[in-house]
Amino acid sequence: MNKKIKKCLFPAAGYGTRFLPATKAIPKEMLPVLTKPLLQYGVEEAISAGLDTMAIVTGRGKRAIEDHFDRSYELENQIDGTSKESLMEDIRDIIKTCTFSYTRQIEMKGLGHAILTGETLIGDEPFAVILADDLCDNANGDAVLTQMIKMYEKYKCSIVAVEEIPMNDTNKYGVIAGEFEEDSIVRVNNMVEKPDPKDAPSNLAIIGRYILTPDIFDIIRETKPGKGGEIQITDALLEQAKQGNVIAYKFDGKRFDCGSVDGFVEATNYFYNKSS
Ligand code: UTP
Repeated sequence: MNKKIKKCLFPAAGYGTRFLPATKAIPKEMLPVLTKPLLQYGVEEAISAGLDTMAIVTGRGKRAIEDHFDRSYELENQIDGTSKESLMEDIRDIIKTCTFSYTRQIEMKGLGHAILTGETLIGDEPFAVILADDLCDNANGDAVLTQMIKMYEKYKCSIVAVEEIPMNDTNKYGVIAGEFEEDSIVRVNNMVEKPDPKDAPSNLAIIGRYILTPDIFDIIRETKPGKGGEIQITDALLEQAKQGNVIAYKFDGKRFDCGSVDGFVEATNYFYNKSS
């Protein structure tokens, strides 16, 4: 399992019902914080972590994602040589430096199922997963995924990013428990999807950043639907955790839940203040 991580999987097939009606015809992942779609923030984080192959799980109504990560000759022709050209610089660089591939999840059976759908794009190697609606920023240093890749290089097993949440919110997250190995590192021995606060094994919640070893695909194939009737990545990871093969990492930085209106507004204010 010594392969370097080059691929990042972006599950982006969900319906984004919390953002209706905005998400009726526009993918949630394309909603912009300031002028940049959430998914572009995710891709930029992956690039800064040294990854160059972006694998995106899409679904019906998500074509705007493919168009965004492609040339747009008419538009570019129109703005080339004008002051607006610079607004396209970042996305042009991304298209030049990365490869994008896509597959469709036909039925939205949960995050675990979306990750399994991505197997065809990933193959037999360790990979990163970014949920673009969890927008992360670390103003003072390495991006969250970069920090996690460093952890992977040390521990060579699946890594989940976690943060402390108010105990009342445990029913919104996958929650882990285990033994601290170092300051910010927990060897996971239990994980529960969206537990009631009274049943939660801790207040350490998994956020939308993972490094997964490829044995996860076979495990997901065997994983029965769990909470909400969906195939949960938390349930599959518990199988790896039972073998001591999952590390939870308390990352440095901020995370905004842009799948919720409150988190989205908070992120917008944060990035606006950062840019001005
Ligand atoms: P969420 O549960 O946050 O996304 O899934 P959602 O279902 O789109 O949002 P709501 O709750 O209806 O508002 C986390 C991530 O997993 C992806 C989503 O696109 C999102 O990035 N996902 C979820 C899939 O790709 N497929 C699924 O079947 C479920």
